[in-house]
Amino acid sequence: MAEEKSLENVDQNANLVGRKSDLIGVKRQIKIDGRNILFVHKKGKFFALDSKCYHSGGPLHKGDIEDVPNFSSCIVCPWHRYKICLQTGESVYQEAYPHQPVKRGPWKSTGVKQRTHCVIEREGNIYVQLSDLTQEMPSDHYNKERPPREEGVPNVHLKDW
Ligand code: FES
Repeated sequence: MAEEKSLENVDQNANLVGRKSDLIGVKRQIKIDGRNILFVHKKGKFFALDSKCYHSGGPLHKGDIEDVPNFSSCIVCPWHRYKICLQTGESVYQEAYPHQPVKRGPWKSTGVKQRTHCVIEREGNIYVQLSDLTQEMPSDHYNKERPPREEGVPNVHLKDW
């Protein structure tokens, strides 16, 4: 879960993003250990989450941010308009009623789909620490570093139809 902490001892694995004063209002993609991270400052809080959308790999750093009732601010994927909570990584949707197209229901979650990472503030600096990557998460498919291609192995496989 993305959360902003004030720690006495910043973990050795935490990565310095920059001075807090330089990061107010930013929405940008950063790279940590080969992983693309969406880093956002919104409404006084910093968030870090995988930057490629769990659905099909859309570039979340190019998405707009919207407020969604019962959830904090959400990033809207520019490809298929899925909304992902910046705080929790949950994919959220508004219930619809097929026989009453004008009526809309409450906002709900389909569960945590996008991996979020820990944001740490210390002495005016902001750090991001990658979350525990040992437990699979849907967004991992598009965000984890792929092993380099073996030499001599073709990239495109042709087959007879
Ligand atoms: S790729 Fe993001 S909603 Fe489809």
